[in-house]
Amino acid sequence: MKVTIIGTGYVGLVVGACFSDTGNQVSCVDKDPKKIAGLKDGIIPIYEPGLEDLVKRNVAEGRLHFTTSTSEGVKGADVVFMAVGTPPLPDGRSDLSYLKAASEEVGRALTGPCIIVNKSTVPIGSYLTVSEWVKQYSKQEVEVVSNPEFLKEGSALEDFLKPDRVVIGTNKEWAYQKMCELYAPFVRQGNPVILMDPVSAELTKYACNSFLATRISFMNELAQLADRLGADIEKVRQGMATDVRIGKHFLYSGVGYGGSCFPKDVQALVATSKDVGVPLQIVDAAERVNYGQKKYILKKIKAKFPGGLKGKVFAVWGLAFKPNTDDMREAPALIITDELIKEGARVRAFDPVAMEAAKPLLNPKVELCDSAYQAAEDADALVLVTEWNEFRHLDFEKLSTVMNSKIIFDGRNIYDPKTIKSKGFEYTGIGRS
Ligand SMILES: NC(=O)c1ccc[n+]([C@@H]2O[C@H](COP(=O)([O-])OP(=O)(O)OC[C@H]3O[C@@H](n4cnc5c(N)ncnc54)[C@H](O)[C@@H]3O)[C@@H](O)[C@H]2O)c1
Repeated sequence: MKVTIIGTGYVGLVVGACFSDTGNQVSCVDKDPKKIAGLKDGIIPIYEPGLEDLVKRNVAEGRLHFTTSTSEGVKGADVVFMAVGTPPLPDGRSDLSYLKAASEEVGRALTGPCIIVNKSTVPIGSYLTVSEWVKQYSKQEVEVVSNPEFLKEGSALEDFLKPDRVVIGTNKEWAYQKMCELYAPFVRQGNPVILMDPVSAELTKYACNSFLATRISFMNELAQLADRLGADIEKVRQGMATDVRIGKHFLYSGVGYGGSCFPKDVQALVATSKDVGVPLQIVDAAERVNYGQKKYILKKIKAKFPGGLKGKVFAVWGLAFKPNTDDMREAPALIITDELIKEGARVRAFDPVAMEAAKPLLNPKVELCDSAYQAAEDADALVLVTEWNEFRHLDFEKLSTVMNSKIIFDGRNIYDPKTIKSKGFEYTGIGRS
């Protein structure tokens, strides 16, 4: 099949590389000339485990191509995936300007009948809107299908190659069959392909992200209560997670969720629900709790230093919104480091892969260090913000030597408080009093 991906970002590049790996001819289009020039030179613009090898192999096999030209990319396409960004507007609604521009460009470029797939996360009813935008510029037969993407950054390849399920939203049997053909290699082990109408497919994507975000906010709110009551949220989590009705995922308390999806998708669903007069109060609360949670650790830091933070030095470990990615969108580290600096503190930060992506977004006073232990030099406290594996085992001797005071704030509850205390450090987690 000839497949075209419009938008070669975190989703588009993964989707394009995976479809090419199953023998399709794939063109990845992006309007960013630097990104496309880099990809043509074998430079992968994002950090995603396994992606570089997959891209290089398929480029070498002549199945994966990159271009800035929509007309070149779309020529002869059987299926065109829209994977452009849909960032939030100030009122929480999705900014559809990229999707509109891309739809019009695709409309002008179509050379034959085609399936257009909304892979971007889009507001309810966008399958119709995209169809209208495309048809303004094309007389070709087009069917717009909703096929939301559920991959997680950091394990994107595995998620796409072995999906829990594939959701296909269309009212046309032939379009469904074509999509099944495309996904067949990824669902050989019986993972379900769920056919539904496009509106239900669009809502499913928002429902999943909002539900997962709600679980996190539920646990974060409970962690604050645990702090007050003297309970250990980690024990509570274990007690909950072993209940098969609840399950173990997305139950970890911490510094709040970030990333390019949860905050914006939750806000977008809340906005939609209000627009149609059925406001979703639980989802709305999840987002409000999350906003507060990003500042909760700062409260704890301030409580530990009652004389103020002016002149204090903080080592911040981890900047990306989660491990195994360099994505800084809505990363809690941005708020935490900025607030510390505003309080007059010095911040020395390290992240294994997100330093370059973080630099333009961080308060310019944040000192970027070459290693975790370099960041800890002269620190009055260490603040763990992103739970990269390399931070999990601490070299206490080294930390004791380089740090000014032995204080650890564990923003992800990855350390055992007893072990930390036995090494002579003070420990503060989230909900672990
Ligand atoms: N990142 C994730 O984990 C994830 C997961 C599931 C769904 N999604 C959704 O997928 C969509 C894309 O997300 P992303 O994280 O890949 O975004 P991204 O910002 O990484 O990539 C979007 C790309 O689209 C390009 N682009 C914009 N307009 C274009 C045009 N007219 N023609 C060609 N290229 C154009 C941009 O230059 C950019 O490279 C969003 O709607 C997002 O909500 C993201």
